[in-house]
Amino acid sequence: MSKPTTTIARHLAKLGRRTGVSLHPFNRLALPSTQTPQSRSRSLSTASPKERRPASEPRPTTIPTATFDQQHTTVSWPDGRESRFDNYFLFDHCRCSKCFQTQTKQRLKTLTELPTDIQPVSVETDTAGLHITWSTSPPHKSTYPSQFLKKAAYDPPLASYHEAEDSRILWNSKIVQSPPTVDHQDLVHSKAETSERGILKLLNRVHDFGFCFITDVPPTADDTKWLIERIAPIRQTHYGGFWSFTADLSHGDLAYSNEGLPAHTDTTYFTDPAGLQIFHLLSHPSPPGTGGTTLLVDAFYTASLLSTLYPNSYSLLSRLRVPAHASGTPGTILRPTISQPAFSHDEKGQLSLVRWNNEDRGVVGRGWTPEEVKGWYQASRRFEELNRSEDAEYWVQLSPGTVLVIDNWRVMHGRSAFTGSRTMCGAYVGADDWKSRRAVLTKKYEGRRKDPAAISGDVDWSVGW
Ligand SMILES: [Fe+2]
Ligand SMILES: [Zn+2]
Repeated sequence: MSKPTTTIARHLAKLGRRTGVSLHPFNRLALPSTQTPQSRSRSLSTASPKERRPASEPRPTTIPTATFDQQHTTVSWPDGRESRFDNYFLFDHCRCSKCFQTQTKQRLKTLTELPTDIQPVSVETDTAGLHITWSTSPPHKSTYPSQFLKKAAYDPPLASYHEAEDSRILWNSKIVQSPPTVDHQDLVHSKAETSERGILKLLNRVHDFGFCFITDVPPTADDTKWLIERIAPIRQTHYGGFWSFTADLSHGDLAYSNEGLPAHTDTTYFTDPAGLQIFHLLSHPSPPGTGGTTLLVDAFYTASLLSTLYPNSYSLLSRLRVPAHASGTPGTILRPTISQPAFSHDEKGQLSLVRWNNEDRGVVGRGWTPEEVKGWYQASRRFEELNRSEDAEYWVQLSPGTVLVIDNWRVMHGRSAFTGSRTMCGAYVGADDWKSRRAVLTKKYEGRRKDPAAISGDVDWSVGW
């Protein structure tokens, strides 16, 4: 595959110094949270009267103060910051047993049950947080842990609680020196805790790097399927669930041919693209077979380069919605209910999903201005050039026994053309499913350290964010 010879390649060399975007692999997007765990709080109802501090005693500096009026309750934090909350918002987020089912962790009140003129009749603060007695009849009492309020603050947001607590690491071709890898033994250990910790390690690496190898896997379809099912449920699609195939175009997709495939993400034609793409090369005797080298590109890395080099292009690819489709399999015409742009961001503004598949792209331009059509093509060519640069491309020859797990929302895959008989197997896993598994295992084995909203007590304030 020929490499682009545009000015982008020359820009790359200078980029680090000029913009602060590091081109080194293992450059952390954002450091993990360095917040120290705050003192454990306790709900007011469990404190005995004698443990309550007399009003005259000086307040420890860790306790906020609060005031209220008809519309708002304002919390003043010991460090001088203030958070203002709409009273209706606070009442809506009450997690007392009347408002919140602690076992199912679901809201119990409908919005129309909340009086629109709801306001406190009194507010109190202590180490447990903020206590409000509401103007209802009979009076309703709510307790909000300080950690919850800091994380929920929106007027203004508290920066330390809104910054990405993210350990994602951008990488480029140099990752070839030390690609993320876990050993199969760690995932299938007879001791449940050991294997769960192994799966967490795998999913953490997938989260941090967007992919991970699993080594020493028995090179059979059955073992691979069994392994994937231990990680998360296999997602059913029009390709089936677990698949195993040779290049026979059996599914009307170029993936089922022996042609080379440029870096792409899969299933851009789903409303919810596949979360994990898992591959296992079971056999490709070579010789006589040749080629079939796997290509990986960190699209979050190349998107960050695009954002730095061409902010307007990044903006267009984040805004203009691109139809995608899968129409080559008889009996199937897939396209997302709502077309999406190439780059989707989460509510914090962080890039969270890249959809990039030129083969499956539909007809662009509907509803766009002529300038946007021109700008979108320019932006897309620039992004493609970045993805095809030697700096970005990581080529790796898979072999039987090594499973590749890819975060399909972030890392693009491709392959060189090949000859000979090549058998691959694998499966998709839904993004919500693997992230759920990771969250559950994180909670189980890493606990509060990773969860600034974790509060002791019956109510789990860490859910629902
Ligand atoms: Fe693919
Ligand atoms: Zn309540």
